[in-house]
Amino acid sequence: MEYAVEMRNIVQKFGEKEVLKGIDLKIHEGEIFGLLGPSGAGKTTLIKILTGQLKQTAGEVQFLGKNAGNGKKGLPDMGMMMDNFGLYERLTCYDNLKLFTRIYGVPGKKADEALRRVGLYGDRKQPVMKLSKGMRSRLLLARAVMNEPRILFLDEPSSGLDPVTAAEIHKLVCEERSRGATIFLTTHNMEEAHKLCSHVALLHEGMIVEYGQPEQVCRRYNHQNKLLIRLYGGEQVELSNNRTSADKVKGYLEQEMVETIHSTEPSLETVFMELTGRGFE
Ligand SMILES: Nc1ncnc2c1ncn2[C@@H]1O[C@H](COP(=O)(O)OP(=O)(O)O)[C@@H](O)[C@H]1O
Ligand SMILES: [Mg+2]
Repeated sequence: MEYAVEMRNIVQKFGEKEVLKGIDLKIHEGEIFGLLGPSGAGKTTLIKILTGQLKQTAGEVQFLGKNAGNGKKGLPDMGMMMDNFGLYERLTCYDNLKLFTRIYGVPGKKADEALRRVGLYGDRKQPVMKLSKGMRSRLLLARAVMNEPRILFLDEPSSGLDPVTAAEIHKLVCEERSRGATIFLTTHNMEEAHKLCSHVALLHEGMIVEYGQPEQVCRRYNHQNKLLIRLYGGEQVELSNNRTSADKVKGYLEQEMVETIHSTEPSLETVFMELTGRGFE
């Protein structure tokens, strides 16, 4: 099986401080992968290493089965959306993208196509400094996808956005996956991760402390393993999820008393609070 990205024992030190302590991760081709973790965990640092903006202290990265060289050598076509990868404030939306069509070596008309896709075509003549936060995010995403990259890195793509704009970004991310791109994103938003990602990893204190499909991870932490039943009339019943509850559950069902029935596996948010001992921003 070939992976889009394969990391082996990635270590990053800044002076004495070891920010990444040996990261091993495999990202499947064509998936949306979510790297989760509290702020300061090292998520942006890992994206910088993968996109060739930072040379790791130790360890190696392979893209599509091939070793990445130093810096940008050997990197596949990639797109990225991150805060520090800025926009020119005085230039219009169109001019910002147009500049990058030259850098990417793609036809100029891709700028207009990308603006249409993110719903900014009507604002193409606006200078970036006049854009709202949501419009900026959409412009950054337009730039990231303009060259149809095989791998897309999105560093907190929807942080600070209203739910409608966040949903638009999610839709575009899913379109990119449908096109065949592999997406590597970081997020604080556990609902977003659960909804979008086929696999998530939790980075905590420089190490990956959990990895899996969101549903699978949640099931692993179902310590309570109970059934929560709400009966018509409002009574809540908590039963162990084993054969000792069978007669009771059968009875409720036979008498058509069950309004809702749930198992107690936690949400991703609860799992990650348990693992990190704190919440996300
Ligand atoms: N260039 C740098 N020099 C020194 N320390 C850095 C540098 N970049 C990041 N760090 C430190 O590394 C840690 C992880 O940062 P970062 O990767 O930005 O975390 P995250 O994106 O998960 O919030 C932080 O403690 C941060 O201060
Ligand atoms: Mg960050």
